[in-house]
Amino acid sequence: MNIRFTEEQEMMRKMVRDFAQTEIEPYVAKMEKGEFPREILRKMGSLGLMGIPIPEQYGGAGMDFTSYIIAIHELSKVSATVGVILSVHTSVGTNPILYFGTEEQKKKYIPKLASGEYLGAFCLTEPGSGSDAGSLKTKAVKKDGKYILNGSKVFITNGGEADTYIVFTSTNPGAGIRGISAFVVEKNTNGLVVGKDEHKMGLYGSRTVQLSFEDAEVPCENLLGEEGDGFKIAMANLDVGRIGIAAQSLGIAQAALENSINYAKDRVQFGKPISAQQGIGFKLADMATSVESSELLTYRAAFLRQNGLPCGKEASMAKLFASKTAMEVATEAIQVYGGYGYTKDYPVERYFRDAKVCEIYEGTSEIQRIVISKHVLN
Ligand code: CAA
Repeated sequence: MNIRFTEEQEMMRKMVRDFAQTEIEPYVAKMEKGEFPREILRKMGSLGLMGIPIPEQYGGAGMDFTSYIIAIHELSKVSATVGVILSVHTSVGTNPILYFGTEEQKKKYIPKLASGEYLGAFCLTEPGSGSDAGSLKTKAVKKDGKYILNGSKVFITNGGEADTYIVFTSTNPGAGIRGISAFVVEKNTNGLVVGKDEHKMGLYGSRTVQLSFEDAEVPCENLLGEEGDGFKIAMANLDVGRIGIAAQSLGIAQAALENSINYAKDRVQFGKPISAQQGIGFKLADMATSVESSELLTYRAAFLRQNGLPCGKEASMAKLFASKTAMEVATEAIQVYGGYGYTKDYPVERYFRDAKVCEIYEGTSEIQRIVISKHVLN
């Protein structure tokens, strides 16, 4: 595996890093008050960041998958909120149409999603069906040339802000996983009701809502793939999505590490910077080792994906390890900062709050271990 980035990838890193520092950093305080970063997303759209790996023929930037992962990594160093919005929009909001849609569906939706005119969301989880995604209960019944959807979805990232939702329903309840189908549902669909906003521990600028479908009418042409393809569509896109969440975790962990190093060099106790105390130096060494290990796992998964190689195991390993690292490194960062780390005057408490959900969404750490163990035992 070549771990050197290409010139084009390095340019992407620099462009996103500059954008994050000049445009997003000053906006973080607003997002921390709960503001959804519409304006930031608009600017990202004009820079081509809302469709990085989407082919140019569908209005995307036509760049490689690693460049997309670099963008999530760099954005998340400044704002994990912006990182997750982009990851969900692209990996699970746009890609299902790109990989499973008809030519008509692609032409209708992808240029709008790739330019940022539309925002995408993904609706799999339900109140009674989280890790056990195959047990979902939302139903779609075909009637008079339409599907009528009924049911509830929860924890929908970008919900209430999105223009299109990839919605998983059962079209054949007796068939279990093989009876699950996926639809593209537009936001103005009658019967699509945006419910309660979740009050979360972190990622305050990212909207997470409950959604319900109350006799929502969806045209037959919005079915993705064939009836019964839904579970595979969900799983295949989550494989890719998990690399995005690994990159988001990596960004949080790296920000926590870099802040800790700078703080430890400045903070003087017992007559010298705390970085010169072995207890802190060793802590920083462990944090750096975990961050670099996460980086290798994340970019290895991205490299496989980019080259069209199987990456399910590697994506799960990257997400499992990078999210654990984000949580551990953010916890240690607060320890390095001491009492100041526990206040909102410094960003490390935000990293800690934002990191936790990386061990939960797009498959909990326990689910990643199920996926990995299935691969290694195969
Ligand atoms: N790609 C393609 N197909 C796949 C697949 C993959 N990665 N993984 C499984 N499949 C297929 C299998 O081949 C199998 O098909 P056949 O029956 O034809 O052989 C079928 O799917 C069933 O596979 P399993 O028996 O492995 O399924 P399972 O019921 O044991 O579940 C699971 C597997 C890994 C536990 C799965 O349920 C899972 O990933 N759960 C977690 C769900 C999840 O990640 N939710 C996140 C919600 S989305 C989110 O968080 C987004 C957000 O807004 C931030």
